[in-house]
Amino acid sequence: MQFAKRLQPLQTNVFADMDRAKAKARTAGQNIIDLSLGSSDLPASDRVIDAIAQSLSDPKTHGYLLFHGTQAFRQAAACWYTQKYGIQVDPETEVLTLIGSQEGTAHLPLAVLNPGDFALLLDPGYPSHAGGVYLAGGQIYPMPLRAENGFLPVFEEIPLPVLAQSRMMVLSYPHNPTTAIAPLSFFQTAVDFCQRHNLVLVHDFPYADLVFEDVAVPSILQADPEKSVSIEFFTLSKSYNMGGFRIGYAIGNANLIRALRQVKAAVDFNQYQGILNGAIAALSGSQEGVKAAVEIFRQRRDAFVKALHRIGWEVPTPSATMYVWAKLPEPWAQDSINFCTYLVETTGVAASPGAGFGKSGEGYVRFALVHDPEVLEMAVEKISPVMSK
Ligand SMILES: Cc1ncc(COP(=O)(O)O)c(C=O)c1O
Repeated sequence: MQFAKRLQPLQTNVFADMDRAKAKARTAGQNIIDLSLGSSDLPASDRVIDAIAQSLSDPKTHGYLLFHGTQAFRQAAACWYTQKYGIQVDPETEVLTLIGSQEGTAHLPLAVLNPGDFALLLDPGYPSHAGGVYLAGGQIYPMPLRAENGFLPVFEEIPLPVLAQSRMMVLSYPHNPTTAIAPLSFFQTAVDFCQRHNLVLVHDFPYADLVFEDVAVPSILQADPEKSVSIEFFTLSKSYNMGGFRIGYAIGNANLIRALRQVKAAVDFNQYQGILNGAIAALSGSQEGVKAAVEIFRQRRDAFVKALHRIGWEVPTPSATMYVWAKLPEPWAQDSINFCTYLVETTGVAASPGAGFGKSGEGYVRFALVHDPEVLEMAVEKISPVMSK
């Protein structure tokens, strides 16, 4: 059987390799503490579950859902934005329902890139950003993120011939995996840069709420209130622990929203209406549950970072996201994949190798804080002998 060439760049996947390493360790009798996946272990709220349960017994929710049927959700998303960021949003033309934000960010390049066009992506970055560009036949220019620049890209480093052939830039802060936060002034520079170079500015914004310090975490639309070049992707996976429900939305430039809608119209019929009703309950009601979840992740962060420091692993304390981005100990400094394979096989602790997020992620490992503090402390105890190796 012959497959399309566009599948080729999707064939190497460090995370699939890690999955195999985990399975091997499990078969060998290791008790796995899985800190490799950024999937919240906390439950969705009762309010959300009740709204979905009620919908299930209503046959009116059982059919295909066309664009018009998503109106109540789009309205709730627009209100949430206005309340949180003070930005006026037209739910008819500037919001689009998504089956998770990954679906949206992966489909958008099909609407923006012609084959051979460049997309400017963060390196390290979220793997589906690159996947979507490959599926659209685009080329990737990885913008390296370095600790000394606060893990923000330096636009002046982009070669002019690449820039001339670029159609889009993808940012995402608070950032997975480095945990960096971008200030509004950086977003203003990015908007200005994209306006000058005729680029679509995509902002993937799943960690909008997972912030532990009293720092502003801006929406890209605060830097581009006219929505001249920008589109932002939000998901209910993180703030509302709804990862498995697959629900998110895009907000931004009406032409971009329309173009993405055209791509999606060829692909899907929107999320199940009951799940939209659950998401409306999440976005519209009290936000105390979000604060409680943030508090839980803060306690986990503190316990994990303190324990790592105790065994001599000097990791920075993240201000946001559900991750710890740790520089590898010296003997493993440029070998994150072997480190993670060795770690899971010898200790049962699974982490994500930095190289899986891009070339500039090499030298690091990402731990996801998806267990209670006691389990995280136990994981560090297991890691300890590897540190003194
Ligand atoms: C940067 C980033 N974008 C998107 C996603 C996926 O979001 P969703 O569940 O809405 O597809 C994640 C999940 O970890 C993420 O870290």
